[in-house]
Amino acid sequence: MKKQRILFIGAGRMAEAVAAGLVTSSADSIEAVVMSNNGDIERLQRVETTYGVQTTQNWRQEVDNSDVIILAMPPEAHPSVLKELSTHLNQQFVVTLAAGIGPSYLESHLPQDTPVAWIMPNTAAMIGQSMSLYTLGTSATKEHKEVLQMILKGIGEAHECSEKEVHELTAVTGSAPAFLYYFAESLIDATTAYGVDEKTAKDLVIQMMYGSVQMLHETKDPASLREQVTTPGGATAEGLKVMKEQDFSLIIKQAIEATNRKAMGGS
Ligand SMILES: NC(=O)c1ccc[n+]([C@@H]2O[C@H](COP(=O)([O-])OP(=O)(O)OC[C@H]3O[C@@H](n4cnc5c(N)ncnc54)[C@H](OP(=O)(O)O)[C@@H]3O)[C@@H](O)[C@H]2O)c1
Repeated sequence: MKKQRILFIGAGRMAEAVAAGLVTSSADSIEAVVMSNNGDIERLQRVETTYGVQTTQNWRQEVDNSDVIILAMPPEAHPSVLKELSTHLNQQFVVTLAAGIGPSYLESHLPQDTPVAWIMPNTAAMIGQSMSLYTLGTSATKEHKEVLQMILKGIGEAHECSEKEVHELTAVTGSAPAFLYYFAESLIDATTAYGVDEKTAKDLVIQMMYGSVQMLHETKDPASLREQVTTPGGATAEGLKVMKEQDFSLIIKQAIEATNRKAMGGS
């Protein structure tokens, strides 16, 4: 793979996570990283100093020199940026990080045969631990896929999907972290009800979750880990019985379905 010159349009939280991953994990594959935004010059100066990337206040001048253009601005900024970008493009690989903006949308707003891809990271990208989904457009080649995987390497794990699957599974990889944090909040509330202060409750719950997630990561077997903790007829089994009676699995399934309905434009 030739060394890539990568231009970011948008220099917010997600652009920073991807750029940080690139300069630490893929430095050998990169000729330059150039970041731009909508006018927040202080932020550009900060990313330049922190990551040693180049910055510009006018991304239009950089398109011609770039191999990859990463769209890291909000979904609602896409129509106008894509319109302008179209007039500067010459077969550059265009990758969006935006929620809801799949390859078919990019292809319908960019010149014919433009290679495109869609990455859906989650917030753990900021610590290099994302579970990202990605999908490529119809004009992307094996080489584009290699470039995409090089970009993804620095923010964690990634899984290739169809466009439809990215739409459906983002509820699990992108939104479910919020469900997990809500579970943590609920457990912290239940702990403080026994009279311990909030800091202690947080320490207890967060370390319990951290250790449990590491066990999950090692064994990949949630059911047998649950069984290890649950003596039949014992105290934990009694707690789980309440969760089953309240149909915890159904609540989770309904939360995923509601997320997808909303993401697909429903109410
Ligand atoms: N944060 C997440 O966990 C997450 C997860 C998955 C996907 N995403 C996607 O990643 C994208 C960026 O999210 P973020 O959290 O990084 O947002 P953010 O921190 O708010 O950053 C947005 C960036 O876009 C720039 N921008 C806005 N309008 C622009 C325009 N018209 N032209 C050029 N730059 C423009 C902003 O520039 P100024 O600061 O100068 O206004 C800023 O640098 C979004 O599409 C989001 O859906 C985010």
